[in-house]
Amino acid sequence: MTNRREFIKVTSAAIAAMSGLPFMASADSKLRLPTRKIPGTDELLPIIGLGNSVAFQTGNLKLSRQLIDIFMSKGGAYIDTLGPSRATVGQIMREKNAHKALFLGSYIAAIEEKAGRKEIKSVQKAQGGGALDLVLTRNIDDYTTNTDRYQRWKAEGLTRYIGVARHQQRFHDSMMKLMASKKVDMVQVNYSMLEPEAEQRLLPMAKDKGIAVVINRPFINGKYFSLVKGKTLPKWAAEFDCHSWAQFSLKFILAHPAVTCVLTETANPKHAVDNLNAGFGRLPDKKTRLRMLKLIRSFAK
Ligand SMILES: NC(=O)c1ccc[n+]([C@@H]2O[C@H](COP(=O)([O-])OP(=O)(O)OC[C@H]3O[C@@H](n4cnc5c(N)ncnc54)[C@H](OP(=O)(O)O)[C@@H]3O)[C@@H](O)[C@H]2O)c1
Repeated sequence: MTNRREFIKVTSAAIAAMSGLPFMASADSKLRLPTRKIPGTDELLPIIGLGNSVAFQTGNLKLSRQLIDIFMSKGGAYIDTLGPSRATVGQIMREKNAHKALFLGSYIAAIEEKAGRKEIKSVQKAQGGGALDLVLTRNIDDYTTNTDRYQRWKAEGLTRYIGVARHQQRFHDSMMKLMASKKVDMVQVNYSMLEPEAEQRLLPMAKDKGIAVVINRPFINGKYFSLVKGKTLPKWAAEFDCHSWAQFSLKFILAHPAVTCVLTETANPKHAVDNLNAGFGRLPDKKTRLRMLKLIRSFAK
């Protein structure tokens, strides 16, 4: 089975041709995304992930293959999959024999033992066998009440990690209660310059407790781009190797020490390249992050 390092079928030149955009330092076809440790393990996760793209949801295999090729060519691994996306991404994983190279987050909607197991089996089948990488639930109450069930699934080898995912601030308190009282490997939360609340308590808590953090809504589902539309990226962004507004948001997020990986959703190969490029080069320091916040807030007024 192919591992992450070995999976380099597509050269940077081919990717540039596919997307119309060069990768940063594309002359170095071996350039791979930096990684961060999943706390409590030796496993490394590349810092940029792919969200649940419309291409995956609608079963657009041609576009999905293109997005996943671009992603994997830079060592990307985490793909967030929900509902029909699991079949699309699963088919591509089987074609590429990429179960080990990719890291799939799969939402298991069922809140019962039997239905949950059935759903896990169907994802296993879709991806070509083997344990799931990450079983995610959006039902924090269910996880809190039935932590034992999720832990058992992990102990039995049905999944390697278990986690909870929400995308709104109103869930942060219940997520923190869960993090304080139960064992959870990963949390997925919203965090960005326009939704910075998680950095007050949730992110420091995750860091203290050794819980991996995956960030969603880096662009507030696209609203961020409406805000920066027509605005010139400040010259000082180049000081931390930032060359687009997408990278401006992603680099802000990645500079937080509790963040393990940030999900980026796109159905546009050019945007996929842009987003992956945020993973390379320098990140803003504390002072620069404040400057970034101030600038974005001035647009939001
Ligand atoms: N667990 C949960 O409850 C939950 C909830 C929400 C989200 N999530 C996860 O988090 C992921 C990301 O969050 P999100 O759905 O809020 O999406 P997002 O990544 O914040 O924003 C996606 C939007 O930004 C655009 N975009 C992406 N890259 C761009 C670029 N470089 N330049 C210009 N536009 C760009 C996309 O359009 P194009 O397609 O045209 O690029 C799309 O409209 C989701 O896909 C999902 O996996 C989880």
